[in-house]
Amino acid sequence: MNTPTITEATIRLQVDRFYGKVRKDTQLAPIFNGAIGTDEAEWQPHLQRMYDFWSSIMLGSRKYRGNPMKKHQDLPAFDAALFDRWLALFEETARELHTPKIAERYIAKSKVIAESLKYGLYFRPADSIAG
Ligand code: HEM
Repeated sequence: MNTPTITEATIRLQVDRFYGKVRKDTQLAPIFNGAIGTDEAEWQPHLQRMYDFWSSIMLGSRKYRGNPMKKHQDLPAFDAALFDRWLALFEETARELHTPKIAERYIAKSKVIAESLKYGLYFRPADSIAG
């Protein structure tokens, strides 16, 4: 593909291919399939939300309305190291589909959001107050 602009269509490519990899990943698939299901029909609402989410992030479209922090806090606890796996697959996908410059923009955004989610999920104020 490698189109030089970001469009709703190329965002869909990123989201579809990325979650295609997630659904086959031995570490990530159980968490996603547990929360969403395994059928195509069960995945459609999640994919639609993710198109809107990435459209809001990359194009400023404001299509996404939701609370990702709360959604992730409500999941059964999972290892923080899985964020590295998530980011690696997202980065790999971005580099496959977009120009290097656009891929870098996706990757940079994904890292910032992952940091903020990790902060919300794993940071405990008590950890920093030596007891
Ligand atoms: C290991 C890391 C991650 C895991 C295991 C994970 C897992 C999940 C799961 C299972 C859902 C579906 C929840 C549901 O519908 O009940 C979800 C939703 C979502 N995730 Fe993640 N996620 C991870 C990292 C990220 C990152 C890094 C981002 C953003 C860059 C992200 C953005 C979102 C968004 C926007 C939603 C939709 C929330 C909504 O329903 O409004 N996630 N995630």
